[in-house]
Amino acid sequence: MSKVPQIRVEPPGRKAREIIKIDEKYLATSTKTSPIAVESASGSVVTDVDGNVYLDFASGVGVLNIGHCHPKVVKAVRDQAEKVMHFAGTDFYYDVQSRLVKKLSEICPGKYDKRVFLSNSGTEAIEAAMKVARWHTQRKQFISFIGAFHGRTMGSLSLTASKPVQRNRYFPLVPGGVHIPFAYCYRCPYHLEYPSCGIWCGKILEEIYFDSFLPPEEVAALFMEPVQGEGGYVVPPVEFVKIISKTCKSHGMLLVDDEVQAGMGRTGKLWGIEHFDIVPDILCAAKALGSGVPIGATIYHRKLDFGVQGAHSNTFGGNLLACASALATIDVIENENVLEMATKAGRHLRKRLEELMDKHEIIGDVRGLGMMQATELVEDRKTKEPAKKKRDKVVELCYKRGVILLPCGKSSIRYIPPLTTSLSQIDAGIAVIDSAVRDAMK
Ligand SMILES: Cc1ncc(COP(=O)(O)O)c(C=O)c1O
Repeated sequence: MSKVPQIRVEPPGRKAREIIKIDEKYLATSTKTSPIAVESASGSVVTDVDGNVYLDFASGVGVLNIGHCHPKVVKAVRDQAEKVMHFAGTDFYYDVQSRLVKKLSEICPGKYDKRVFLSNSGTEAIEAAMKVARWHTQRKQFISFIGAFHGRTMGSLSLTASKPVQRNRYFPLVPGGVHIPFAYCYRCPYHLEYPSCGIWCGKILEEIYFDSFLPPEEVAALFMEPVQGEGGYVVPPVEFVKIISKTCKSHGMLLVDDEVQAGMGRTGKLWGIEHFDIVPDILCAAKALGSGVPIGATIYHRKLDFGVQGAHSNTFGGNLLACASALATIDVIENENVLEMATKAGRHLRKRLEELMDKHEIIGDVRGLGMMQATELVEDRKTKEPAKKKRDKVVELCYKRGVILLPCGKSSIRYIPPLTTSLSQIDAGIAVIDSAVRDAMK
């Protein structure tokens, strides 16, 4: 196999520039991270229209967990497309949807009967969770975390709090959302230190919020990402998640686990929440569930289900192509050692990133679980001033040298290659990142 990465012409090359020109003229909100125009992709390798070959450390924003165009997924989608592509799963029946909802209810945490609502994206999975929670509890309030990203439609946007630009000019949002600080230990909102902090951030709900202005009996649900994604790949301490879970239980508030980015094996376990040994009431999945075919799923205890027909529905949720793709994806994860690979590769990736931190002062923190890792770039390790411009420079130098990366948080870079990426591919990516960090600091 030829060398990867391999940059033949500085991206964007001639063919890419033609595509970008049209895109910039017609595509709404066309602000992109890197000018890479893809031609084809396989596993962890992406080829652009000008023949450049990249290592993909972004996985289409956490979608290609089992790699690009896995043969089993391609075959399942192709076979399905030849038979029937759409038949309105909320009104009629078909085998792939039934098999998928059965499978999802079996593989989600919680040994109880479940119901699954299928949609087309992460944001819709969250919207459905908000509706289920209000329907069932008849309470009006929601709690989510500062730094959270749950989507951009009006309901999920009301829970999102990762960047002001996402909310600016859209007020009023859905009323009833309260945000509380997350357990971001590297930048503790209370300037405390773990573990001497006594997990104060987990206790403030009871000790301050419920005791002053937020009656818990008004709260329908609390939404939480097991690892905050867009907010900067922030991993909370296990005790924090346990306290939050206990608080929810004791007040009859539903705990919604947003697995849109952390799920489907990304952290080395099928669901990110499994690292914290708690069982959520509602689980939302999307992104990697369909390996590139859009799908969202909201999975919850049967007793929470909408009580009447028509209380929630859609046209495309559970369409046949998405169901076929999701079933094949789960099959690959279950039968091709994907979780083991993610754990092993994740350990290696983490070690290599820590080596980079030892070498480069600008890396202030390395954090993550499994193949969901990030570095936070700072001007000074003491003041922790975010090094946003330098972070952007590293991302730019990397794509020019053949490694696709994405930013997150204020000044972090996320490393989310497909879970099937080999250790030598990780090493090849790290070599490029190493040189990019060095040159960005010049
Ligand atoms: C944790 C989380 N929840 C929800 C969403 C929204 O998903 P989508 O973009 O598919 O609507 C995202 C997207 O990045 C996410 O990371």
